[in-house]
This record gives sequence, structure tokens and C-alpha cells, in this order.
Amino acid sequence: MDTKLIFVIACLVSSSSALDNGLALTPPMGWLTWERYRCVIDCAYRPDECISERLILKTADLMASLGYVEAGYDYIGIDDCWAEHERDENQRLVANKQRFPNGMKYVADYVHSKGLKFGIYADFGTLTCAGYPGTLNHLEIDAETFGDWGVDYVKLDGCYVDVGLMDEGYPKFGGLLNKTGRPMLYSCSWPAYQQEKGIMPDFDSLIEHCNMWRNYDDIEDSWTSVETIMEYFGNQSRMLATHAGPGHWHDPDMLIIGNFGLSFDQSKVQMAVWAILAAPLLISTNLGTIKPEFRQILLNKDIIAINRDPLGKAGFRVLKKSQISVWKRNIVPVKDKHTSVAVAFVNHNVNGAPRFGNFTFEELEIDTSYIYDVYDLLPSKTQKIMVYQEKSNHRFEVLINPTGVLLLKLVIKDSIGVYNNEV
Ligand SMILES: *[C@@H]1O[C@H](CO)[C@@H](O)[C@H](O)[C@H]1NC(C)=O
Ligand SMILES: *[C@@H]1O[C@H](CO)[C@@H](O)[C@H](O)[C@H]1NC(C)=O
Ligand SMILES: *[C@@H]1O[C@H](CO)[C@@H](O)[C@H](O)[C@H]1NC(C)=O
Repeated sequence: MDTKLIFVIACLVSSSSALDNGLALTPPMGWLTWERYRCVIDCAYRPDECISERLILKTADLMASLGYVEAGYDYIGIDDCWAEHERDENQRLVANKQRFPNGMKYVADYVHSKGLKFGIYADFGTLTCAGYPGTLNHLEIDAETFGDWGVDYVKLDGCYVDVGLMDEGYPKFGGLLNKTGRPMLYSCSWPAYQQEKGIMPDFDSLIEHCNMWRNYDDIEDSWTSVETIMEYFGNQSRMLATHAGPGHWHDPDMLIIGNFGLSFDQSKVQMAVWAILAAPLLISTNLGTIKPEFRQILLNKDIIAINRDPLGKAGFRVLKKSQISVWKRNIVPVKDKHTSVAVAFVNHNVNGAPRFGNFTFEELEIDTSYIYDVYDLLPSKTQKIMVYQEKSNHRFEVLINPTGVLLLKLVIKDSIGVYNNEV
């Protein structure tokens, strides 16, 4: 055999290797400060909302006592605005002394005692997005500091730096995290900044160096924002789906469920579509005041099971017609080479009554050589679902609430042969 060929094959295998820190084998789940708490630092006026030890400890308690940890939400992360404006005499980052009076290691230890893992934020540039010290000229000391504090998750943002430096800089910081010897989940913001400049991200490099990455703009607390993000991912989700898998995921940004901007139905849409996309589920809301019905969406075991499906295949938008988009993800169980599927029908029509949709299995690319048991994972009295699985008539008739979702799990039952025998 030609030795050159062997060499080429070996290179292909090694160059496409994924980050091997043993983390994020299913999409990460947890809670993050940013969307809800932003850069609130005035603890005198807003003691319950400022970025502080108090907020993190209180949230960790709620995550442990209200079933979030048990459901799988096991990271708790601080985003921007936690640091002092000056590094210390050893060039180390310092937690803000008023808001984190016991330092960051204390917070990490507390969080760990609640069965949670601890996340922190840094920025690859000279400053963070909110103007706190950036990591650019301190990559090594910052990685070491995070390791010393007991950090389990680092989000590296990309403000105040030339996008051209990111292709080298993000992998370099990832290497320094690895060098600390402490496994830290690495969340990269680099493609979101490239996307703004029309640069196609290098997905092979992302897979090799990051556990998850932000592809697009920050989420805001509104349906418009969720729609725009779904549109961005939907437009290219077939391509994106090929680049996600155990240890490396696309991140359409935080769950805003439980805040001010989404209705009950819209909240279900975000949860369902994020699960189909195999997206990280990072809650950003006040867990002390969230209404029970929104909490139930976040804790929905069936949807979380789809998000964490062991096949690790991300789903995609199959089609969009008459203001209904359909999203699909292959899931276990698998029979021969055929898989079960999760299907989400989203009605984008903002006004009017529930909307009717009529789809064949063929146009949704669902295999008709099996019949399926069908489960409605988000039952609603105002929605309807009919699934026909007779010979040469495999289709769905659905009625979906305005800006709502119908989420189905289709579990492979028997082969069509067995089915025919029964008829
Ligand atoms: C560092 O990288 C090596 C090689 O990929 C891997 O085996 C190891 O688990 C990593 N260690 C940490 C702490 O991430
Ligand atoms: C998605 O694609 C449509 C049709 O090509 C385009 O009009 C829209 O701007 C795209 N949206 C996003 C957010 O990429
Ligand atoms: C859906 O399509 C099928 C096949 O064309 C048709 O028989 C059925 O009447 C349609 N249903 C509705 C409610 O339009």
C-alpha cells in the first residue's frame, strides 16, 4: 500500500479531532446572569439584582432546592461585570471587593457544595464588553487564576479586539486552560464576531478547541429577538447540524423563559426549538420569582431528554411554509439505520386564531418504512394533532397557537411489514 496515502489519512483523522476534555458530551445546561441581570452593579439600590456573591449564592440555593440541578441544570455562571477595574500587583484579576467580599474561590466552593459547577466570564480583548479588564495580554495568568479558583466553565467574549486575532487567540487560550490541568468547559464567542463581519467561521477549528460557541447576536428579552435567532439558525441549520456533536455545540444564546418578553406559548417555542437544535440550555431569569408554569417548561423532562438525546445529532429546520416552520431531530431508539424523530411545528403568525398546517411525511423527510408511536410533549387544549400512517398516506394535520409550538416525539414501532400483517 502507498505510504503517502496512509499519511494523508492519518492527517485527516487528527486534524478533525474534537476537543478532548471530557466535557459537554450533551449540550450544557445551567444558569447565566447576563440576559436578566446585565451589568447591574448598584447593590445599594438593587440589592437583589446586582452582580454579586449574594445573587449567585441565592440562585445556587434555588437551583438545588427547586429541582433545577436534578433536572440537569448543573452549571451556574457569572457573566460580565464581576471584576475590579484594576488587576492586583501580580497582574491577577480580582473580584469586585464590595460585591464579592469573600473573593471568587469562596463563591466557587459554595456552588460546588450545592452540586453545581461554576462558570465565569472573560473577554479576549483589552477590555470586556462592559469595560472591565480584558484578557488579551494576560492569557496565561487568567487561565491559571480561573483554575486556582475552581472554575468549571469559561465564557470568552470578543469585544475590544481585532477579529483577525481570534483564529489564533481563542485556540491559544483553550490550550492554556488545558495546561492548568483543571477540566474547564470552554465557551467561545469568536464566530459571533466573525459573523458580524461576514466571515465564515472555521468550524473544524471550533470543534477542535471549544465545547460550545456563540454563532450570532446576543438574545434580548423579546419574541422578535427569539424569531431573529431562529431565522438565523433556520436559514443554515442543515449546514450547522453537521458541525455539532458530543463535546461541541452551537449556542443560540440563553433561555429567556420566565422574564418579561415571552408569552407562555412563545416560551414553549424557545424550549422546543433549542432542544431540537441541541443547544445549550442556559436559563437567565430570576428563579425566586419565576411563575410556576414557566418553571414547568424549563423542567419539562421530555424536552430535556430530547436536548440530551444520546445520539448527539443536532436537528435542523426542515422547511417553512405558510408561516409555519418545521424543525426535526433524529433521536433514539434506532432500528436498522432508521431513527425515531422529534418534530416541532412553530406557527410564526403573530395575529389571529390558531393556524392550520398540512404536511406529508415526505416533505418533512420522515421515513415511511416504519410506523411510529406519537407523543405530544406540550399538550394544549387549543391545539390539535392528527397523524395519518396508512399506506401511501403519511401526513400530519396540525392546529397551532399563534407564536406557539406543537412538539411531537415519533418513536419507531414496527416495520411496515408487521403493520401490514395487522391490517
Ligand atoms: C488536555 O488535553 C488532552 C489532549 O487532548 C486531554 O487528553 C486532557 O484530558 C486535557 N486536559 C484537560 C484538563 O482539559
Ligand atoms: C434568513 O433567510 C431569509 C431568506 O433568504 C432572509 O430574508 C433573512 O434575512 C435571513 N435571516 C437571517 C436572520 O439570517
Ligand atoms: C390535507 O391534505 C390532504 C392530502 O392532500 C387532504 O386530503 C386533506 O383534506 C388536507 N386537510 C386539510 C384540513 O386541508
